Amino acid sequence: MQDDRYSLPQRWLHWIIALLVLAALGAGTLFFTLGFDGLMKTFGGDLTNAIYKYHKTAGVLVLALMLLRLVLRIRLGAPPKPDSLTPPERILATGVQHLLYVMLIALPILGWAATAAGGYPVEFFNWTLPGLLAKDPALSETLFALHGLAALAVAGLIGLHIAGALRHWLIKKDGVMRRMSLFG
Ligand code: HEM
Repeated sequence: MQDDRYSLPQRWLHWIIALLVLAALGAGTLFFTLGFDGLMKTFGGDLTNAIYKYHKTAGVLVLALMLLRLVLRIRLGAPPKPDSLTPPERILATGVQHLLYVMLIALPILGWAATAAGGYPVEFFNWTLPGLLAKDPALSETLFALHGLAALAVAGLIGLHIAGALRHWLIKKDGVMRRMSLFG
């Protein structure tokens, strides 16, 4: 890679996945705070069902796009990290980025498996994808608990990732943001 930026497809994937993850986390926060009954009372049946459907749809898209992104990362690599990064910053940034890859693949798989084991439909827009697991309510409960914990870990990693990006953009002003930006 001659450029000091990620390739254009990698930059698009980064921002599309970021929006999808934020949307899925937003809906997940509603599930966690209000629960199914609270959602039904607040939003009514149609909107509640739509929130579930589009949470699952966004999650499945994240899984598919993350797998594509992993393939591109392996095939195209990444531009070399700039010299402005201190060794601890280098270790922290690389660690957070690698963990985000792992967690953003594991999290939707857990959601998919938990949904299927609960006997609920794995919705993707207006289609229903194969569940791949037999109905097992106890397993579903465990998988949903893991799904919630994994989402919490992802929220923490995203916080660190954004804090790092803002530090480069507003304090260090060392052009690191440009590596992933779509414009400029
Ligand atoms: C980036 C992807 C995803 C994120 C960030 C995410 C995030 C979350 C969060 C934060 C919760 C609330 C957890 C809790 O209440 O403890 C949740 C619940 C849920 N997730 Fe996901 N999720 C993702 C992918 C998926 C996928 C792919 C599916 C299924 C195909 C799915 C199905 C569900 C369901 C059905 C619930 C509700 C559980 C309940 O009502 O008890 N999620 N998700």
